[in-house]
Amino acid sequence: MKLFLLALVFLFMGVISNVTALRSRTKRELAPGLHLLGMRDAGGSYCKQRNSCCPGRDDACTVPYLDTICYCDLFCNRTVSDCCPDFWGYCLGISPPVNIQKVCVKNDKHYPNGATYQDNCNRCTCTTDGNWHCEQNPCLISPRIIDAVNRGSYGWNAGNYSQFWGMTLDEGIQYRLGTIKPPSSVMNMNELHMNMKNDILPAYFNAADKWPGMIHQPLDQGNCAGSWAFSTAAVASDRLSIQSMGHMTPALSPQNLLSCDTKNQHGCRGGRVDGAWWYLRRRGIVTEDCYPFVGLNGNGSPGACMMHSRSMGRGKRQATNSCPNPYASSNEIYQSTPAYRLASTEKEIMKEIFDNGPVQAIMEVHEDFFMYQSGIYRHTPVMAGESELYRRHGTHSVRVIGWGEEMTPNGHVQKYWLAANSWGKDWGENGYFRIARGENECEIESFVVGVWGRVSMEDVSHKK
Ligand SMILES: *[C@@H]1O[C@H](CO)[C@@H](O)[C@H](O)[C@H]1NC(C)=O
Repeated sequence: MKLFLLALVFLFMGVISNVTALRSRTKRELAPGLHLLGMRDAGGSYCKQRNSCCPGRDDACTVPYLDTICYCDLFCNRTVSDCCPDFWGYCLGISPPVNIQKVCVKNDKHYPNGATYQDNCNRCTCTTDGNWHCEQNPCLISPRIIDAVNRGSYGWNAGNYSQFWGMTLDEGIQYRLGTIKPPSSVMNMNELHMNMKNDILPAYFNAADKWPGMIHQPLDQGNCAGSWAFSTAAVASDRLSIQSMGHMTPALSPQNLLSCDTKNQHGCRGGRVDGAWWYLRRRGIVTEDCYPFVGLNGNGSPGACMMHSRSMGRGKRQATNSCPNPYASSNEIYQSTPAYRLASTEKEIMKEIFDNGPVQAIMEVHEDFFMYQSGIYRHTPVMAGESELYRRHGTHSVRVIGWGEEMTPNGHVQKYWLAANSWGKDWGENGYFRIARGENECEIESFVVGVWGRVSMEDVSHKK
């Protein structure tokens, strides 16, 4: 809820016009004093500019004041106090009542004490001394980082994203990632070593070229910290499509994992990929069409599980209820074989992608990554001199679909991974990003997972 404070910007725009509506020259007696309306001294001279103070009551004795008028007749100081701010000093030669306070100015407009506006992720409030006081949170979109990255030669470009604008950096880390680092017991387990002899891998590879129509589009997790479910569903979707040789190309449902894989998992507040793969193997999940992503409901939870399955023997399972989406065509449950962890070496990861398809990788996301727009990402030191508040990171998981290399202007070869994020297709390079390869950038080579879909001959011959 705090995320959508942007709306507050518009809140105070109505304040001034309400004041105007309350004031009326014909019903002057009934109008409350300017100070009671919260109207404050804009710091100018009014009666002084008018050059005269009228004795007694003179309803014509006015000057424009902010969006309304104020008075310079002696009547203004009696029943109602709608005097101009300089009335006391100029007309009476005394200091004004204490409750006449300074207003704040923004874009040539005046705002009363207590008015607020939103500046990116920070709320600014007009204080009694006539100054705006702004919160000082580091924001997820930082114009300073964008400028520094684009002026430096880091090999990538940074930019603004409307979906991140207005969020704090902490909120980005909290709501846009969502993978819990596997404990070292899992990290050290099941490493699969391949025989790399005689393997010549191309300089450029994109799984979508080798398996056309079987590599799925980047997903959008919104403000659901569920990358554990999104990256798992995405890799499983590609692998099932590849292993069935395109006879089935299900886009599997992250929501099914978020809502139903709840054992030691935390839905949109984070989860573990090893748990997600366990669920895919033992329980299985349906397609996105059957169980669409609903994001967060009002209380921030992903909602109760709406898809249940039962065993059909030999580990295979079948849905016991129809799809949450009543228009879905099939409630078929898809399962995988056990996931395996690859060795943390560039060549083995490449070979796995080349032979079997996209892999899942865990990575650390740093403050500058949110603003990535294009190029080969590397975490930059542009915030190195700043306090810890500005240098935050969190664990994320993504789908790596290929690699390549590029020559820099000064003739260096830059190797990269090609990966799909889950921040929508308008983030990065159409939802994808490239990141330095072979140097464990952001730990992206440290925990990489592959999997086999559970595909029977029947699937291959009868589906589609
Ligand atoms: C970033 O985008 C938002 C939303 O589109 C916009 O309001 C804001 O002014 C932009 N900020 C910068 C620094 O360009």
